[in-house]
Parts: sequence; C-alpha cells; structure tokens
Amino acid sequence: MRVAAVGDVHLAPDVAGRHRAGLVGIAEHADVLLLAGDLTRHGTPEEAVVVASEYADLGVPVVAVLGDHDYHSGAEPKVADLLVEAGVTVLEGEGLVLDLPAGRLGIGGVKGFGLGFAGRCGSDVGEPEMRAFSRHGREGAEQLARALRGLDDVGVDVKVALTHYAPVEETLLGEPPEIWPFLGNYLLGEAIDAGGCDLAVHGHAHAGREKGTTLGGVRVRNVAQPVIRAAYAVYEVSATRVLVGT
Ligand SMILES: [Fe+2]
Ligand SMILES: [Fe+2]
Repeated sequence: MRVAAVGDVHLAPDVAGRHRAGLVGIAEHADVLLLAGDLTRHGTPEEAVVVASEYADLGVPVVAVLGDHDYHSGAEPKVADLLVEAGVTVLEGEGLVLDLPAGRLGIGGVKGFGLGFAGRCGSDVGEPEMRAFSRHGREGAEQLARALRGLDDVGVDVKVALTHYAPVEETLLGEPPEIWPFLGNYLLGEAIDAGGCDLAVHGHAHAGREKGTTLGGVRVRNVAQPVIRAAYAVYEVSATRVLVGT
C-alpha cells in the first residue's frame, strides 16, 4: 500500500494554484494522500478555500488533520467544513477506514499538541495555564489512542497514525531543543506504540528531519514540506513494516 503524505504547506491566496501541478497524477504513485496539518498560514476561510481547491478531485482519498496555524483565527470549524466540502476527510481524534485496492487502511488522526518528552515535559502542577497546557497535550494523545483502538474493532490490514505534532524526538533533530516541548509530545508516541501502528506521519517541525522511530519500533516520518521538499512523500507500507520510504 502506497501512502502519500505532506504537511505544513501553509497555503494562502497569493500562492493559489501553485501546488496543484505537483499533485497531478498522484493516483499513479499513491493509494491515499495524508495531510499533516498547517495547511493554511493563519487559519482563515480565505486560505482554506485555496487548500480545498488545491487538494480536490485528485483521484485518491485525501485525509487531513489540522495544525496549530489552522486554529490561529478561531475559524477551524469553517476551515474543516471547506475541506470537507472539497471531499477531504478531516480527522480530530477519530479513526477512518478506507477500503483501497491494496487493502483495508485504518487511519487514526488528531492534531495533537506539545508537552515535551519523558523527563523534560510540562506537568500537571502549578498555574492553571500550565495545567491547561499539559491537559491539552495529554488529551490529544488519549484521543489518538482511542481512535487507534477503535480501528481494531473494525479490522484493518494496515494502521497509520496521522498527527500534526511530533510523537518522537528523533524527527525534531535540527530544531532547537529548547522548543521541543512545543513541537511534540511523547504520549503521542506511546499511543502509536499501544495502537500497533505500521506507520506514523506528522508535520510541524519545519527544521526537523524526515525519519525516526518510536520506542516500540514504529516508523515515524516528518512530512513537513520544508523537510521533504516535494509535493508529497510516498511510503510503501505492509501490515507489519514499512518496505520503502522516499
Ligand atoms: Fe507549520
Ligand atoms: Fe505547526
């Protein structure tokens, strides 16, 4: 099964139409396209219209999570609605099953949030603001875990986790360590391992690196466009392992 993915395209009206050329013919190279959030610059409906037209009618299912930038204007429900109207499935703490020619693909998707990594993360003590930060980070991971567990009830051949925030530190290498608690969350990695995923893709870390692995051995790919430097990357996935990564 060929899973294409990209994140952090940060589209806006001034670049309308420019990404489409890179997406033409994607159905020859991939079975599905995952969008790993930060699809807009400031989360406005005007920017979402550009995203919707760019990713509509590609000939493969398109599944997205939103990113922090897509929340910036407080219009994330409208942003999601515009994408859905264009045929894009938007996940926020939910699972989706796609019956593809290559098999049954289960996707658990959530934006996620920061928090940090084991031993160097936000905590549940102190000011209400710090507790809210930690709570949001924890809840995103819990939502992902639930979504992935739910896929087991349905039965899938391949299971993929789609997040905006990073589940491991490895794909953040290149980003200043001081900001890692704002880029990722180790609880997402734990949810991915507990869920028995075959692949995890995320964005958000523009200066990170593409390839990493969870503690449990799940392949993690940072598909932020500044990292993959392409319209999308394609990962070939079997039920047990990633065979080829590009
Ligand atoms: Fe971004
Ligand atoms: Fe982001």
